[in-house]
Amino acid sequence: MKKEPSEGLIDFNVDQTDGDDLLTAEGFVRLFSETIMISSPKSIATVRTPYVWKMKNQKDHKTMEQKEFELKQEKFINNDKTPFFIFRKEEFRKLFKHFSQFGKVFYPVKANDHIEVLKAVDALSGCFEVDGIYHIERLLSIGVSPEKLQFSIPIKKPNGVKKALKYGVNRFIIDTEEEYLKIRQNRKNIQFIIRVSIADILNIKEVCYHKWGIPIKKAIELANIIENDGSHFLGISFYLSQEIFNYENFSTVLDCIAKNFKGRSLSVLDIGGGLDDSFSSNFHNKIKEIKESLNIDTIIVEPGRNLLDPCIDMVVSVIGTAKRGDNMWAYIDAGIYSGLLDYVIKDKVFEISILDRTEPSSKTYKYLLSGPTSDALDFLGEYSFKKQLNAGDKLIIKNCGAYTFVLGTHFGGFNHFGFKGGDLL
Ligand SMILES: Cc1ncc(COP(=O)(O)O)c(C=O)c1O
Repeated sequence: MKKEPSEGLIDFNVDQTDGDDLLTAEGFVRLFSETIMISSPKSIATVRTPYVWKMKNQKDHKTMEQKEFELKQEKFINNDKTPFFIFRKEEFRKLFKHFSQFGKVFYPVKANDHIEVLKAVDALSGCFEVDGIYHIERLLSIGVSPEKLQFSIPIKKPNGVKKALKYGVNRFIIDTEEEYLKIRQNRKNIQFIIRVSIADILNIKEVCYHKWGIPIKKAIELANIIENDGSHFLGISFYLSQEIFNYENFSTVLDCIAKNFKGRSLSVLDIGGGLDDSFSSNFHNKIKEIKESLNIDTIIVEPGRNLLDPCIDMVVSVIGTAKRGDNMWAYIDAGIYSGLLDYVIKDKVFEISILDRTEPSSKTYKYLLSGPTSDALDFLGEYSFKKQLNAGDKLIIKNCGAYTFVLGTHFGGFNHFGFKGGDLL
């Protein structure tokens, strides 16, 4: 199987250090420039960026590690192959461990399928949740065992099912009887997890929340069908997206599962992604409670956005500026078609700084930041800098590791990290 090149992502591995926060890309920016943004017409309150990695102010004593780090900073500034990502693996490891407290991590490959990210998950003994053959083949290409994969998307391409089984993937999430039969017709001894509808449990009306999941009563019927047919019913899964993720909803869903599956021991309870920084002791206690009451062996967690976002930054170049009416515009070589779509779909205000060695001025310069394509939608909002921007300047867009690399297109003829071709069947 063809291996993917590691293009587009610089591995910023701080393995050899004591993990000091100074050795982060954030530290790097602060050392050279005080130009921290942000102003934007969009509300920051709607954005949940839970893990803010604090920089210690240690300008006074330079350790060996710091000197080494500064050499890497030069590499970032001198690397003209923008846009590219910086992957802070040490921070990734910390967060991975954090989420592992709550259950076995099945990393959602859809969040970022870069080979270096997949290898980092594998090195931490993580498992993977995949949505298609493309994900499966990528994982197999780096030597991940198919036993560590869970085919999660509830409705799957028939060819994809056949191929996945051939590759040795044996664990499937389903939410209809039709899907059970589609998979089951291939062979016996397949493991199934049933995804329940959170919209049904929480009585949510918005149609988008009804896209996946089976009502809890029907989940019991489906579990019976699976067991009576000689297949393996492993357990239950659900996914509370970030917009509705809170303790109240979480505990309502868990209580409902506990009530309806009482007396039946489940091997697995998969509580999905959406986990954020609020996910702490009260959630932990609730998980323990259901684990005991249903005699569950394994709790599965699938953190995507909040595992990846805080560990990966994007470095971009300014390709030109223009004064148009009262506004200054700066055009950079990445935008929503390079995966920075969260500005549009989540009102996300990015944290953007100049990678620069010169002293910041006392003045503030405001820019409307645009991606490189001609599309008017390719726009990231208004940002302030303590320095005028010029073509060739490098900017660092922090905390943008999830749902960016995977959303890169080739729209406008730009190579936004390469077009992947989707599910290759
Ligand atoms: C089933 C499932 N698990 C995990 C995730 C990752 O969620 P998040 O990135 O919100 O943590 C998703 C995202 O869509 C999902 O659908």
